[in-house]
Amino acid sequence: MLRAPAGGARRPAVLITLKERVVQLHVAGGNLTAQRVDTYVVTVPEGARRLAGQTAAVDRALDGAIAAQLAAGVATGKDGEITALAAGDGVHAQRVVVLGTGKRDEAETADRLRTRIANASRRLRTLGVGSVALGLGGVTSPIDPASAGRAIAEGLLLGLYRFDKHHTRAADRAQGSIGDVTLVEPAAGRVAEVRRGVEQGRVLAEGQNLARDLGNEPANLMTPTIVAQQAQRIASETGLECKVIERAEAERLKMGSFLSVANGSVQPPKFIVLTYRGGRGNRFVGLLGKGITFDTGGISLKPGDGMESMKGDMTGAASVIGAMQAIARLAPRVNVMGIAPCTENMPSGSATKPGDVVYAMDGQSIEVINTDAEGRLVLADALAYAKQQGCDTLVDIATLTGAMNVALGSVRFGVFANNDRVWSDLERASGAAGERVWRMPLDREYADQIKSDVADVKNTGGRAAGSVTAAKFLERFAGNTPWAHLDIAGVMNASSDRGVLVKGNSGIPVRTLVHFVLGRAR
Ligand code: BES
Ligand code: MN
Ligand code: ZN
Repeated sequence: MLRAPAGGARRPAVLITLKERVVQLHVAGGNLTAQRVDTYVVTVPEGARRLAGQTAAVDRALDGAIAAQLAAGVATGKDGEITALAAGDGVHAQRVVVLGTGKRDEAETADRLRTRIANASRRLRTLGVGSVALGLGGVTSPIDPASAGRAIAEGLLLGLYRFDKHHTRAADRAQGSIGDVTLVEPAAGRVAEVRRGVEQGRVLAEGQNLARDLGNEPANLMTPTIVAQQAQRIASETGLECKVIERAEAERLKMGSFLSVANGSVQPPKFIVLTYRGGRGNRFVGLLGKGITFDTGGISLKPGDGMESMKGDMTGAASVIGAMQAIARLAPRVNVMGIAPCTENMPSGSATKPGDVVYAMDGQSIEVINTDAEGRLVLADALAYAKQQGCDTLVDIATLTGAMNVALGSVRFGVFANNDRVWSDLERASGAAGERVWRMPLDREYADQIKSDVADVKNTGGRAAGSVTAAKFLERFAGNTPWAHLDIAGVMNASSDRGVLVKGNSGIPVRTLVHFVLGRAR
């Protein structure tokens, strides 16, 4: 096969170090008013006639200042409403923030809590609140304490995420800061569980924020080589095994489908394998993420408008790396292999051409009709490799088709599965994560659209049901192994700050993947 020119010369000399985020999170028992911090955050439901619990205790210490805000209609308790008061001498804090929790008849859920905390934490950041103590009395009671702790940690750490490292002037970066946050749980019997949940939520959110960092980084600074360096860094920090299959080894393994996408690029492809061993035996849950560090479309070149968003076409790979970091830290009793086939998709004199026939690792021949349908080509070899390595469950994650965005937009991502148990486990995991999914079909007839005249299969099936024919293509490479395909093209980016989402790469579905793996543990 044709070799791309050596890419070493253009490789950045230094590894980009991604910014560490430090919001210290603590959990304490006892009274909120015992905390010596800059700001107390207390909650009130909408239409509250009298204050209760910690809010009432702070109100008493402030001689009824909170009740006065409610009586005057300054604070109403609407969900997410924030009212800041000067605290005076009655308490150890300088400021009290009253956070509305909405109508009491709307059942409080971990989801609503996570969203409220995320929105509130951005508002608190602009207020520059310093150290914060948040009273949990009443906030968490309808939710089990671990789930509440997890939701709050996720809301804080995901909601406060920002990607502003390339603004060289401080004024252009997101303003404000939050110091330490202490969650004060008045029910002594719940403190340990809240703490356990906070720890888990931190790990989940940090995994998701890692995926966001990788996905937001522009493609010149997140080449396959740099993704591999990041994977190696995470492996050495967390004790994962990391293997990077270089082009020469991929050739020996006959990964002709993966390599055909890399043909046009000067950047060397990297097929990354992260392994976590928490269970017995040599069987693995396989997590496989599409890692196109930039998708120009190749010879089937994309239009220029909006092409810059294709720096995020490695969000599948980023999600796998973020999930593997979290899995290593949570240490469940299960074996997991994270696979991230990474390459650019570029046009050039050495690029794959429409009509070319390539051979995947498992021997299947593929007619490349459109070089812009490259994700399925890299995943074909990833699926074949995963099976060969002993993965008995396969979950691939890919920004695979624009048609997925047409079908479901940015609210839910599509899940295709050849196995009902994998589907129901994923559905449960997505519920625990608060990331929404929708099952998509795989009827046999859709396969007719990807029959090729010259090879075993072709890589596009026309406009109709574009996400389904892409999934039908992948299904061939999963074979009889239980498999699910997550098409995350629609949810890749958030268009504005909303709840846990911050404008830019969403880091979805890291939390779903981690919950799925936790559910598979002994
Ligand atoms: N990476 C794109 C899909 C995509 C589009 C992801 C928008 C995120 C946002 C993928 O490689 C692609 O180009 N798909 C083609 C397939 C077609 C050529 C069959 C598409 O969707 O147009
Ligand atoms: Mn493409
Ligand atoms: Zn793509």
